[in-house]
Amino acid sequence: MGDETVSAALAGKRVLLVVGGGIAAVKVPDLIRRLRERGASVCPVMTRAAAEFVTPLALSALSEEKVFTELFDLTDEAEMGHIQLSRQADIVVVAPATANLMARMVSGMADELATTVLMATDKPVMIAPAMNVRMWLHPATQRNLAQLQADGVSVVGPNEGSMACGEFGPGRMAEPMEIVAALERHFGQGPLKGLHALVTSGPTHEPIDPVRYIANRSSGKQGHAIAAALRSLGARVTLVSGPTALADPVGVDVVRVETALQMRDACESALPADIAICAAAVADWRVDAAGQKLKKQAGQALPDLKLAENPDILAGLSGHAQQRPRLVIGFAAETQNVVEYATAKRAKKSCDWIVANDVSPATGTFGGDRNAVTLISAAEPESWPPMAKTEVAERLAERVAWYFGHGGE
Ligand code: CTP
Repeated sequence: MGDETVSAALAGKRVLLVVGGGIAAVKVPDLIRRLRERGASVCPVMTRAAAEFVTPLALSALSEEKVFTELFDLTDEAEMGHIQLSRQADIVVVAPATANLMARMVSGMADELATTVLMATDKPVMIAPAMNVRMWLHPATQRNLAQLQADGVSVVGPNEGSMACGEFGPGRMAEPMEIVAALERHFGQGPLKGLHALVTSGPTHEPIDPVRYIANRSSGKQGHAIAAALRSLGARVTLVSGPTALADPVGVDVVRVETALQMRDACESALPADIAICAAAVADWRVDAAGQKLKKQAGQALPDLKLAENPDILAGLSGHAQQRPRLVIGFAAETQNVVEYATAKRAKKSCDWIVANDVSPATGTFGGDRNAVTLISAAEPESWPPMAKTEVAERLAERVAWYFGHGGE
């Protein structure tokens, strides 16, 4: 085992490797070898089906570890319970993640050791999907993929290419070295390593009285995906989030707030930051809230809500006298004249880039999983084709990495 391949990101890391039952399992021995060369230890857990493609003996020999296969192996349960097994790792990698295994993960089934470990773990989970192209493109798999990502699971691959079944298209498992690279990025060796990113996400809730509030339709999906994408490129990420139903992105510091004023204060406390991305749909106004629940009273006038303007968090960060992040990015939610209005918004808020999106109801952007955006910077506006919000996030994170890689110009 050559010392020259030991990787700073992976040395001493423990990978719990869940091996699914697909033909791509034949790449797993190589994956184990490459992880171990870089100083990681690998504990394989095979699904029942995986043993049809690769033998426990082979994986045990390569990993020099006991290979776990069955939930009800009493000896193993006595030696090490599945909870303990899932907690001793630094990360859980599922490779290959078959369509069936992904579906079982989504529905929270714990029907054998491998799926039970996935349910019991409190560690980050990364999957490397592998399946026939039709199975990959099937709406059920795409739904499951979106759900797993929303649950905080990171995904590497699949690649496009010819497959063991003779078809061509996306579905080939990422190559072992691509999985290794994704793990190195996960452990903080990506291009944004050493940088701190501040991201706002979700709506704000502005109380009217102790039981009522003003809100908006933002789901937080785009902002949360951006936080996860920046993290996976190695940044330290602080996510200041209004109320959402989303899981916290893995490895991200999440500060939960309700109101715009709380969001502003949390952003201020998170400084200094190198990058700020304001994806939150901050309420423009707050209400001078009543201390007690407002009551309906027959014959009396309707309550008179007194509004005050909320601070503009994005403009505040862009114009910060002492601690302006080097790159400040805002979003512009528009329903018409998207580029024109967003260009004006970039100037008005003095931010570096604006990600403009059309949120007219027909686009389904608010609450949906897809987004069509235009990037407005000092250069020409750049329209990106419609894509998943997770892809918008990855592409934006890559652009941020490019910016810092080129001296921040
Ligand atoms: N934003 C903010 N604080 C606010 C209002 C907006 O940080 N109080 C940020 C959003 O996170 C987004 C950008 O400003 O990055 C644009 O928000 P948007 O609601 O589209 O624009 P507004 O400034 O509200 O302008 P208008 O309502 O006129 O479109």
